[in-house]
Amino acid sequence: MNHFRSELRRRAEETVALYPRKRSAMLPLLHLAQEQDGYLTEGAIAEIAELTGTSQADVHGTAAFYDMIHLEPVGRYVVGVCTNIACLLNGGQEMLEHASATLGCPVGGTSADGLFTLEETECLADCNIAPCVTVNHRYVRTTTPEAFDVMVSNVKDGKLDHEIPSHGTLVRVRRQGGLRVSREDIAAQRATAATARAERDAAAKAAAAVIATTETK
Ligand code: FES
Repeated sequence: MNHFRSELRRRAEETVALYPRKRSAMLPLLHLAQEQDGYLTEGAIAEIAELTGTSQADVHGTAAFYDMIHLEPVGRYVVGVCTNIACLLNGGQEMLEHASATLGCPVGGTSADGLFTLEETECLADCNIAPCVTVNHRYVRTTTPEAFDVMVSNVKDGKLDHEIPSHGTLVRVRRQGGLRVSREDIAAQRATAATARAERDAAAKAAAAVIATTETK
């Protein structure tokens, strides 16, 4: 029995078909699994291994390398507080401690109600609005403890559901581009690209041979 729900299984198979090598689809499939479950379950690892023609150890090893992929259950909302230099100078550490107190969980932990997981992060590329706070990888731009508490209250009340989906959802509007191209078209485009590459390589070799001959004269 598949671990992916039918719609995501179909999406996973279409994604695999986009790549010359199945294993190249591993990262998008990890995110698909996380979108379904909030973290990477053993069932998902087994299915991704099957879909990508790899071992479960390969999938686990890849997932363990990336901080965005969670190997254990997390809260519905993963709150990230940056303590890198720009944010540190602007109260990042204090914000992290405040977040821990407000959410009722230690850094790296999950609140008792299962709603929030708190993470300390490196630079989140929004240094001009420091200290930077994200929820499920969305900037919430709450730079004071008071604003943070209002944001948490709004999240709990569902007032930010239009901005912040549950953990694991990277996009709500899916990219359709490549997935609408037939496998035959993809194969034809790959063949055209390979021919162009071979012609380029041959021309470069010929040019190098001419230069070498000229230099030895
Ligand atoms: S240093 Fe915090 S977002 Fe860049």
